[in-house]
This record gives sequence, C-alpha cells and structure tokens, in this order.
Amino acid sequence: MGRKLTAYRMEDLKRIERAAIQRAESAKTAQEIATIRADVLGKKGELGTVLRSLGSLSAEERPKVGQQINTSKSRIEAALEAAMVRVEKGRLEEELVAGRFDVTLPGRVVTMGSPHPLRIVERDVIATLLPLGFTVAQGPLVEHDWYNFGALNFPPDHPARDQQDTLFVSDEVLLRTHTSNVQVRTMCKQKPPVRVLAPGMVFRRDELDATHSPTFHQIEGLWVDGHTTFAHLKGVLRRFAENLFGPETRVRFRPSFFPFTEPSTEMDVSCVGCGGTGGGCRICKGTGWLEILGAGMVDPAVLEAVGYDPEQVQGFAFGMGIERIAILRWGVEDIRLFYENDVRFLRQFSGNP
Ligand code: DAH
Repeated sequence: MGRKLTAYRMEDLKRIERAAIQRAESAKTAQEIATIRADVLGKKGELGTVLRSLGSLSAEERPKVGQQINTSKSRIEAALEAAMVRVEKGRLEEELVAGRFDVTLPGRVVTMGSPHPLRIVERDVIATLLPLGFTVAQGPLVEHDWYNFGALNFPPDHPARDQQDTLFVSDEVLLRTHTSNVQVRTMCKQKPPVRVLAPGMVFRRDELDATHSPTFHQIEGLWVDGHTTFAHLKGVLRRFAENLFGPETRVRFRPSFFPFTEPSTEMDVSCVGCGGTGGGCRICKGTGWLEILGAGMVDPAVLEAVGYDPEQVQGFAFGMGIERIAILRWGVEDIRLFYENDVRFLRQFSGNP
C-alpha cells in the first residue's frame, strides 16, 4: 500500500514537472512566467501540495519523494529562467524592429563650451590677487551719481559727468562709468581694513567701432589699512603684473590724474610682444611699453566721504580694462569680436595662454 502511494506521488510530481516546463516554454511575457511560478512553486502551488502530503508516507519512502520534489523544483526553476531570458531577448528585438532604436543613425555629438575670453582675463586677474588677501565684490550697474562721481571727488562740473560721456537714466541716476562705485559702496558698509576687487560691466557714451564700445568691462582693486603707502601700491601692482604677464615683466609708473586718487599714476608693463625692446613692434608701436592700469593713493576727500578718518587709514586703488588686457594677450584686432558671440571666434580660447 505504502509503495503504491509513493508511486502515485512520484507520478504526480513528474506530471507537474512536465506541465510546468511546457507552460514555461510557451510563455510569451514576463507576466505569464510569474503566474506559472506562483501556480507551481508558490506557497499554495502544486509542488507545495505534494510536499504537504509527505506525512501520509512511511518514514522510509518519504526521502525518496522528498528528493524528487527538489529535483522537479530545480528543473522547473531552470525552465522558468530560460523562458525569462527568451522573453527578454524577444522584447529587445521587437523594440529594435519597431524602430525605437535605429543603430545606423549617427551619434549626437555633444559640443563643449569654453569660457569667454573676457571671463578668462577676469578670472586670471582675480586669481593673481586673491593670494594677497583680496575678496571679490559686486555693485549695481545702474547707479546714483553720488556713488559713481560725488563720493569719488568729481567736482559737479567735471567733464566726465557730461552728457557726452555718461549715459544718464535721470538727473541723478546713471549707468556706471567705472567699477569705482564699488569702492564707495564697500567702504560705506565696511570698516577698514579693506581689500576688495570689483569686476564688472561699465558704460560710456561711445560709438561702437574697432577700438571703442559703449559697454565694456573693468576690474578695480581697493586696499585700505593703517600705514598704507605708495610703496605698498607699487609692490602689489608689480607682483600682479609679474603673475599675470610672466616673471620677466618689468613695470614703470608714470604720473597721472584721477579725481579720486592723489597722487595718481598709470602703470605700464614691458611689452608682451617684443619683451620691451620696441623696435618695429606693432603691439607697443615701438615704445617697448604697454599701458595697463590707472592707480593711486585714495584721496583723503574720498575717505572722508565714506566716513573714514584719513589720519587713521590710507589706501590705494587701481582700475583696468579687461578688454584691453585680452586684446594685448591674444592680439585681437577688433573689440566687437568680444560681443558678437560668433563661436568661430570664441572657440579659440581654452583658458590656457
Ligand atoms: N576708474 C578709472 C577709469 O575708469 C580707473 C581707475 C584709475 C580706477 C585709478 C582706480 C584708480 O581705482 O585708482 O578709468
């Protein structure tokens, strides 16, 4: 009797196995395969039912049937696994056929941008000065007369204030003509010591041509502290020139005038084209020198205007045109190229000299 029961169970198992494998082989979707798995191998599945009936077998027969359950189970698992691989492959092929991927299409080239040459110069100027303790500040482009002129010691009738030079928005509001407004704004809200760099856009009433633009860029530096002298100005600016143009660079300071500095100076660097020999050099027009920036000791009137005590603190400031430096560095012949956004021009600048 026990033997007979075992034979039934063994037959049941073989039948379950065959049927499951057949179903797996004809399954068309992952969903179908999951259903077969649940029907056969699941908790309440067909194999489970046989497993639960093992109790009715003799202790001697039980392991035999148990072993067959395990064998069938792994064969069914293998069939389901194979079915899964087949179905997945078919799905990919179908997608290809349906045209979702056309492997013969050319790839899409991702073009990389590069920094704008004016940004490169701005970044390099800032990078050479940050180690000396400067931080970077921004200020408004549309500015009150007082920050652009008044506090900077421009007399009311100064020619720069003329409608010819400055773009006025209203009587007392204008587009800033230099980044020096940031000096004033910084000193108004901060006590000395001050070491600040102000890069940005400035505006003048100029016609656009190869060498002029009504919009251009400057970067300004301001250093205010106790016991600051012209020697500090020269030391900082010489270091700056050597870092920006190379260690061989020589500098010279010529007397100049700005309303907001006294004394004022202009700094020249030895020509980047001829190394200062002049001769037939086109870049420096044979002089061996290039004018790079204006600078000077902050006028006591400016310190007073922002509420500093000129007996306690002194300072120096400097300002330069970013376009001018870029033109010299790369030999750009027309300033308009910087603003036209022609990628054939812009692509040539990688940020490395
Ligand atoms: N603001 C001047 C200009 O636009 C440049 C300049 C000169 C800035 C001397 C300064 C300075 O801070 O000290 O031409």
